[in-house]
Amino acid sequence: MNIGIIGCGNISDTYFNSQSIFNNIKITACADKIQELSEKKASQYNIQSFTVDDLFKNKDIDLVLNLTIPSAHKEIIIKSLENGKHCFSEKPLAINFKQGLEIQKISNEKKLIVGCAPDTFLGAAGQKARSLIENEDIGKIVLGTFNIMSHGMEDWHPNPDFFFKPGAGPVFDLGVYYLTQLINLNGSIRSVYATSGTASKERIIKSQPRYGQKISVETPTTLMGVLDFNNNSKIQFFCSWDVWTHNHSNMELYGMGGSMIMPDPNFFSGDIMLSKENSEWNKITNDEMLLGIPNKTENNGSK
Ligand SMILES: NC(=O)c1ccc[n+]([C@@H]2O[C@H](COP(=O)([O-])OP(=O)(O)OC[C@H]3O[C@@H](n4cnc5c(N)ncnc54)[C@H](O)[C@@H]3O)[C@@H](O)[C@H]2O)c1
Repeated sequence: MNIGIIGCGNISDTYFNSQSIFNNIKITACADKIQELSEKKASQYNIQSFTVDDLFKNKDIDLVLNLTIPSAHKEIIIKSLENGKHCFSEKPLAINFKQGLEIQKISNEKKLIVGCAPDTFLGAAGQKARSLIENEDIGKIVLGTFNIMSHGMEDWHPNPDFFFKPGAGPVFDLGVYYLTQLINLNGSIRSVYATSGTASKERIIKSQPRYGQKISVETPTTLMGVLDFNNNSKIQFFCSWDVWTHNHSNMELYGMGGSMIMPDPNFFSGDIMLSKENSEWNKITNDEMLLGIPNKTENNGSK
């Protein structure tokens, strides 16, 4: 398939460079609402640059790779489908459930496929954990926790505004990796109980080139609650960009026969710690598996 990227910002290089790692990705064109960004990437990667509208109309492109900011995701996905193209989008798919259903409806009508990040649950740690759970190594899962805590994204991302607008915040931006991993390991969620808060109504950018500029915070920066799964297990979560440091693990699952600590689901792999009943923790390394090396090292995804 010929792929056209829309959105030539911070994450786009990761996708452009993935062409040399995988043997089935062929990016032939790109576009951005800021034309010069698109032209720069096109010349860097030796592909064609189009306006966004012309990329949609181009008959040679089979699939749009949507790397725009969350508030633009739905519009770009729907326009891709209306122009007869499949679409893979960065997360989140849409900024609310209603928008997600609209996308599903058009995708079904047009018989075109929509995919969405995150795919990190397909990495070695997620796959190994799933096989351990299916083998009942820790028995039936009954409880768990996951924690995402940092002081936000304004210290590294060059344009961090979108992180603090509807469609982002710590659950839509990072929580989706944890939720996808959990649904892979523990099935579907029946209901959610949660509360939210915002410690600062304003953030000051600490990264270049916009150092010192202010961002008005328009979505909660802390969400805490409990997920009630259809298998009756309960998992507590704490997602916040209002915490400087902490000492919680990313994700812990408690079963009838033992406990498991998962590596950060934002990355493709990492070690799993497993303890049966009262025994010592046993480290399970997944380096030898396919997608077995963590793709990032920093908890906030900056490196
Ligand atoms: N940066 C990361 O490390 C990272 C990691 C994983 C996922 N993501 C996800 O990738 C997406 C993009 O993130 P980013 O960090 O590259 O953001 P970014 O702001 O650096 O880049 C987004 C680009 O999209 C363009 N854009 C915005 N609206 C558009 C529209 N309507 N039409 C055409 N172009 C438009 C912007 O001009 C910008 O160049 C987000 O959904 C984010 O959650 C980012």
